[in-house]
Amino acid sequence: MSSHIRITPSILNADFSQLDSEIAKIASVSDYIHLDVMDDVFVPNFTFDFDAAAKIIKSSPIPIDSHLMVADVDQIAIDYAQAGSASVTIHAEATHDIRATLKGIRFHGARSALALKPGTEIDGYESYVDEVDMFLIMTVEPGFGGQKFMESMMDKVRRTRKLIGSRPIWLQVDGGISLETIEIAVEAGADTFVAGSAVFNAEDPAQMVIALRERALSSKL
Ligand code: DX5
Ligand code: ZN
Repeated sequence: MSSHIRITPSILNADFSQLDSEIAKIASVSDYIHLDVMDDVFVPNFTFDFDAAAKIIKSSPIPIDSHLMVADVDQIAIDYAQAGSASVTIHAEATHDIRATLKGIRFHGARSALALKPGTEIDGYESYVDEVDMFLIMTVEPGFGGQKFMESMMDKVRRTRKLIGSRPIWLQVDGGISLETIEIAVEAGADTFVAGSAVFNAEDPAQMVIALRERALSSKL
């Protein structure tokens, strides 16, 4: 198991009309900001177009983890890397040439990440292990914040952790992460945690990020 824990709050459930101040609330205690990009095609919801996302990436005080839930993502992923994302996540289900796109993301200076929807198995994607800096195992159907954590995904998390072996690849989970569920994901082998509604519906978002990190670290002892 990796010795680091990263908390990457999602701003999906933050107040979009004042994103700068929402990000400022959690920036000093978070590792990355997780930016959920949805196109209303790959998922039945829309968040940002590229120009709006690029502004957020540019103005954020901490690095951005762009999670692209968009169809035909190959070229879009390169655009997000060039726009300055620290990490760019593509969905295996939305990519025509996974290997070329992962390589392209790295070539443009970002970490490359491959996401799998709940219905997509890790088998068949093992051969990309040397092209990825992070795997994202979705623990809800992508599209909306505030859904219930799918504990049934933990077997996939365990198998992905095994595949990673001693490589320095991060293993992220996204969807329904809270003080009640984070330990389950840590025990299965995740080390990088998206949390949206748990953080932004909390009275004190920064305090919640700290509490999530402490809970994750303590369950590794
Ligand atoms: C869902 C998004 C998630 C979402 C997480 O499609 O990818 O990042 O914002 O929100 P919570 O933590 O509320 O499940
Ligand atoms: Zn996400």
